[in-house]
Amino acid sequence: MRRKIVAGNWKMNKSFQDAEELVAEIADKLEALGQAREEVVLCPPFVYLEMATDIAQESVFSVGAQNMNDHDEGAFTGEVSGVMLESMDVEYCIIGHSERRKYYKEDHELLARKVDAALRHGIRPIFCCGELLPERESGKHFEVVRKQLEESLFHLDTAGLSEAVIAYEPVWAIGTGVNASPAEAQEMHAYIRGLIAVKYGSDLASETSILYGGSCNASNARELFAQPDVDGGLIGGASLKADEFIRIVTSF
Ligand code: PGA
Repeated sequence: MRRKIVAGNWKMNKSFQDAEELVAEIADKLEALGQAREEVVLCPPFVYLEMATDIAQESVFSVGAQNMNDHDEGAFTGEVSGVMLESMDVEYCIIGHSERRKYYKEDHELLARKVDAALRHGIRPIFCCGELLPERESGKHFEVVRKQLEESLFHLDTAGLSEAVIAYEPVWAIGTGVNASPAEAQEMHAYIRGLIAVKYGSDLASETSILYGGSCNASNARELFAQPDVDGGLIGGASLKADEFIRIVTSF
């Protein structure tokens, strides 16, 4: 189902105490708003997932991980599997974030296996795609995003893809304070939806949630979310303060 979603990607931030305070504050504010029409997803670091899912049980938000291993178990020191996430009631997992692609050399093939691993365990992948600045400047941004989707997501069958959420995150916009303009975001989101329509049909295309990420904050979310093909946001820096995050959640 095409849902409006605002997901907070906390990345590697916050002590346990600060994280617990932030989750509790967000839960309180969501409760004060009443039943949210939008789906709110918090993606804290692995070590805080249990704390977050405990609080989520009494609240209206969902919990996601920021990464996962493509194997279900075994000798992979330091890694976290879909089996583990599923057993902790984690509902989403960010897969293919540009920071994972860049710093941990995650390639198309690995990301396709991670997507499969998530789905094996009933975890909805939030699959990230997006071009680098030189790729946009040379007019290759559509091609880059198409390849990312074709190589790591479009191997799924209809049932698999219907569980996925796509996040378009132009790399030049992440953490830079320079967001894609609403027109640039809309253009790419419409392109992505068109690719889904060609491969899976227009029904599934119109039901897929496509989020925008990259310097999305309380000042620009309303205009971005007003675009017809922008179904919400994947929020980094601006998800670390409860007030700002809630202002984004209420920006539809
Ligand atoms: P940002 O990060 O909102 O801090 O730009 C977004 C993301 O990396 O998901």
